[in-house]
Amino acid sequence: MNWLPGKVVENRHWTEALFSLRVEGAQLSFEAGQFVRIALDMEEGNEDSRVARPFSMVNPPHDPVLEFYGIVVPQGPLSPRLARLAPGDTLYVASNPAGFLVLSELPDAETLWLISTGTGIAPFLSILRTEAPWRRYRDVVLVHAVRHARELVYREVIENIPRLKYVRLVSREEQQGALAGRIPAAVRDGRLEAAAGLALAPASSQVMLCGNPDMLKDTSAALGERGMRKHRRRAPGHITVESFW
Ligand SMILES: Cc1cc2nc3c(=O)[nH]c(=O)nc-3n(C[C@H](O)[C@H](O)[C@H](O)COP(=O)(O)OP(=O)(O)OC[C@H]3O[C@@H](n4cnc5c(N)ncnc54)[C@H](O)[C@@H]3O)c2cc1C
Ligand SMILES: NC(=O)c1ccc[n+]([C@@H]2O[C@H](COP(=O)([O-])OP(=O)(O)OC[C@H]3O[C@@H](n4cnc5c(N)ncnc54)[C@H](OP(=O)(O)O)[C@@H]3O)[C@@H](O)[C@H]2O)c1
Repeated sequence: MNWLPGKVVENRHWTEALFSLRVEGAQLSFEAGQFVRIALDMEEGNEDSRVARPFSMVNPPHDPVLEFYGIVVPQGPLSPRLARLAPGDTLYVASNPAGFLVLSELPDAETLWLISTGTGIAPFLSILRTEAPWRRYRDVVLVHAVRHARELVYREVIENIPRLKYVRLVSREEQQGALAGRIPAAVRDGRLEAAAGLALAPASSQVMLCGNPDMLKDTSAALGERGMRKHRRRAPGHITVESFW
């Protein structure tokens, strides 16, 4: 494994648990939607103590400053340390980005649905800031489901993307302008389609799902009831997923 040392230039804290790291100096070539392993040494200067985890790039590929969006998992070995990084600190970035949550793997359609929970919005923020979705799909919908309204992050980025339809869900408090509850229920009862003003149907839609593995499973089941199935290279379908754990 080839590790590139990057320098933290910013660690923005959105809430006590949510943070965005910007990292300079680690040059990567990747397709929007991919992830890379990032790492810290648990004991300073001891490479044997290095702990690495995959993180999706938030920045589009043409931006040389890497950006990662994370949440503190209190009992996790890496994320609490990432949240404590300060400008000037070193973060190691693997030289080999990977992942199939990319538009080059997707068939064309009328509507592209990018559906996320929590930090699962990260790869979609990269994809949305490239030209491909706008060239290939007539409509693009970003769905972001979070527990609390304060976790609806990156508003300034999202609001600056012309033509994007943005649907929010907040599950643990009432929030004006956001749907209540979870994504699978909003698929089943038609609220997601009504909020976007678009049909979520096999004839017109490609869906990318990212985030909580239970959401991926439950949403895939709800989409399956509409005749949508997993997309595979050899058996084209409508649903492409990436699980964060
Ligand atoms: C392909 C891929 C891409 C990923 N991209 C991101 C990303 O962009 N941002 C990010 O924050 N994480 C991302 N993750 C998860 C990340 O790799 C780590 O698991 C996470 O940062 C926690 O690390 P940890 O060492 O503290 O705890 P771990 O030991 O890695 O995780 C412990 C537990 O925390 C929970 N958990 C892990 N990640 C999350 C999460 N993102 N949100 C809520 N609960 C979680 C799970 O229950 C997991 O079992 C990604 C994972 C994969 C497989
Ligand atoms: N979010 C926080 O305030 C916070 C603070 C400190 C630490 N953490 C850490 O982060 C972890 C959780 O992170 P998170 O809040 O970003 O992620 P999350 O638990 O995946 O919740 C994000 C959204 O996904 C929804 N969801 C969960 N299971 C689903 C399913 N099966 N189908 C559809 N939607 C589903 C949740 O709804 P529900 O609300 O209905 O579950 C919520 O709206 C915790 O385990 C903890 O370690 C979180």
